[in-house]
Amino acid sequence: MNIEAQQAIESLRLGIPPEGHVRYFTVGRFKEINTLTTTLQQPSSTALLLKANYGSGKSHLLKFIRETALKEGYAVSSVTLDAKSAVRFNRMDQIFGAICRGLEVPGVKQKGIASFFDWISSQSKKGQVASNWSQITNNNRWNYSRIIKSPSIFIALRAWVSGRANTNLIEDWLHQAGGYKATDLDRELIRKTQISFREELQVNGSLKWSSYTTKASLFNFKRDAYVQSWHVIQDLDTLARASKLRGLIILFDEFEDIVYNISNIEHQKVAFQNLFQFFFGNFFTGMSFFAITPGFVEKCKHRLMTKGCWDYDYSHFDALPTFEMSPLEESHLQELAEKIRQFHGIAYDLDTNTLTVEKSLKRIVVKAASTPLQDRTRYTICEVVKCLDQLLEDDEYS
Ligand SMILES: Nc1ncnc2c1ncn2[C@@H]1O[C@H](COP(=O)(O)OP(=O)(O)OP(=O)(O)O)[C@@H](O)[C@H]1O
Ligand SMILES: [Mg+2]
Repeated sequence: MNIEAQQAIESLRLGIPPEGHVRYFTVGRFKEINTLTTTLQQPSSTALLLKANYGSGKSHLLKFIRETALKEGYAVSSVTLDAKSAVRFNRMDQIFGAICRGLEVPGVKQKGIASFFDWISSQSKKGQVASNWSQITNNNRWNYSRIIKSPSIFIALRAWVSGRANTNLIEDWLHQAGGYKATDLDRELIRKTQISFREELQVNGSLKWSSYTTKASLFNFKRDAYVQSWHVIQDLDTLARASKLRGLIILFDEFEDIVYNISNIEHQKVAFQNLFQFFFGNFFTGMSFFAITPGFVEKCKHRLMTKGCWDYDYSHFDALPTFEMSPLEESHLQELAEKIRQFHGIAYDLDTNTLTVEKSLKRIVVKAASTPLQDRTRYTICEVVKCLDQLLEDDEYS
């Protein structure tokens, strides 16, 4: 029996796209997917709304992008904005924390800022860095940076490469986007690691940091409308490129959460502004994708109107580039059933290429595909696996 194929089947049994095999289990929408793949291959800064109905494959497409992007050599971060995850889009500190937690680099299973910093450290030791590395580190003196905008990220990475820092603390601090006292961070990250560097950290050495006039402000992600939080996100992209990755791609799932789960209208307005910043602003130059359900833009506008926000510039909403996903057709679902059949055979070491299996599956798919459910792709997948399981149990594979 094949464990990997079995795990994939387990996942499909629940209607969840199997980790690591999303590309294989993707059918249909070739034109759409080609456009996306081309975008990833010819990097340009873009943001895109991915629009489709409930159960129509938004999360699947994000996972497809994640897999493709990692294969193409990008760093990727996946963030879900549901009520449970307590990530609010008006709070850029929470957003950057979530981005750090979801960060992945090619070939590394573990998610998080540790994998990212380890990658950068090892690339720099191997000399596998871009030409701006010397400006980033001030020729490895690490006393200030001409390029890194967030002093916190610079200090964290500097401490990380020193090999003397408490890496758990750095990880926890960035994953939580705060929660530590400036005096403790100063002691642990700056003073304790200083011995590894010839020169002291010089905050006023960098023009970029001229607004950080006190020690406390260096570690503050909230002041000045969360400016340092934005800078962290930009720096992650800069550092990804500097360490020979192709950049950072951020994937936001369940983005309509900003309509339903932010109740305060002022907070919601900030969340909308942050969305526009990703699309039209220059804080972040990497790519970002936002999964939304149909009617998102109308719901956002409606919300503002019912709250009497007449002075608001609504035109931004109409200018958001949107990628509308067409639903899968029966022929696509048949193709998908075929792929599941192959995997089921591998998983349980059986020959599924028989007429009985073929006929049964065809029947199941025709029936499942014609249900009026919005969620019919997931339903079909579950029915196909159920049918194969049943045939296996009844020993009717042959
Ligand atoms: N192009 C595709 N090829 C193969 N399977 C797909 C495709 N698109 C979606 N699926 C499958 O359909 C099911 C539903 O997709 P998914 O969970 O991505 O939908 P969603 O739009 O995110 O739903 P929700 O609104 O519930 O979040 C999943 O099992 C997914 O793997
Ligand atoms: Mg989803």
